[in-house]
Amino acid sequence: MSILNGQVSLQNLVSMEWLTNEEVLGLITRGSDFKNNRATFTPQRQYFAANLFFESSTRTHKSFEVAEMKLGLDLVDFDAKTSSVNKGETLYDTVLTMSALGTDVCVIRHPDVDYYKELVESDSIRCAIVNGGDGSGQHPSQSLLDLMTIYEEFGYFEGLKIAICGDLTHSRVAKSNMEILKRLGATLYFTGPAEWYSSEFDVYGRHVAIDDVITELDVVMLLRVQHERHDGETSFSKEAYNSQFGLTQARYDLLKDNAIVMHPAPVNRDVEIDDHLVEAPKSRIVAQMTNGVFVRMAIIEAVLQGRA
Ligand code: CP
Repeated sequence: MSILNGQVSLQNLVSMEWLTNEEVLGLITRGSDFKNNRATFTPQRQYFAANLFFESSTRTHKSFEVAEMKLGLDLVDFDAKTSSVNKGETLYDTVLTMSALGTDVCVIRHPDVDYYKELVESDSIRCAIVNGGDGSGQHPSQSLLDLMTIYEEFGYFEGLKIAICGDLTHSRVAKSNMEILKRLGATLYFTGPAEWYSSEFDVYGRHVAIDDVITELDVVMLLRVQHERHDGETSFSKEAYNSQFGLTQARYDLLKDNAIVMHPAPVNRDVEIDDHLVEAPKSRIVAQMTNGVFVRMAIIEAVLQGRA
């Protein structure tokens, strides 16, 4: 992976931990340039993208589609429900097929953590792999759009006080963000139920009660409670989670004037955040969705350059 003429060039984009700080800053700068009409992309030939989603998605799937169309790529329609996956075809063979058809980029969301490793190690698969989420592993395009949103607001990461709140152990968003935010100089706090915290996260920040840090925070990064990844019943009712760990109006009122609230969405309204706060003045939840299109344009451009 490298940066060419100020633009990032990647073979694949599968994990934030595989990117250098320069590549991260290059991608979010390029995303911002696309957003503000300071960048254009002229395809050198006809390019094809396939979006292979084996888990549900609205934002990631559709914003990759919009990003690809804005860059002038042709989209290869793929529906996991009607594909040969239903005849037992493996993910590897599905991607090998896409590569053989001449697809340049495969964006993949799949429930298996690290599914991408065998794909990027294969000599036969020639298309770029972009990870749209692997189980509870990584979600690098979400992380990059989160970083772009924070950078748009503050212009730096060093010294920012950021709380990542909630269902940490099940969240690929949390895992993608904690390592890179620490690497970029932010001070991290983790809040939420102890049962959704792992001591593995201690190297990145401290687990604290949200009420102990709320007045100091620059960024409140809420996480969705991932009911579909919980083995059994959670020990919290919606109301109990909201009052102990969620962003209520009372906590919102304690935030600094220039603090911002983020959530990758979909939002469980009145659980992680009070319903009426989703579009409150300090919320950047809608801005995150918009930024997703532009940072994904930067990602697709980077892998097309990397494979040129
Ligand atoms: N934030 C996010 O990944 O949303 P989707 O599951 O809708 O793609």
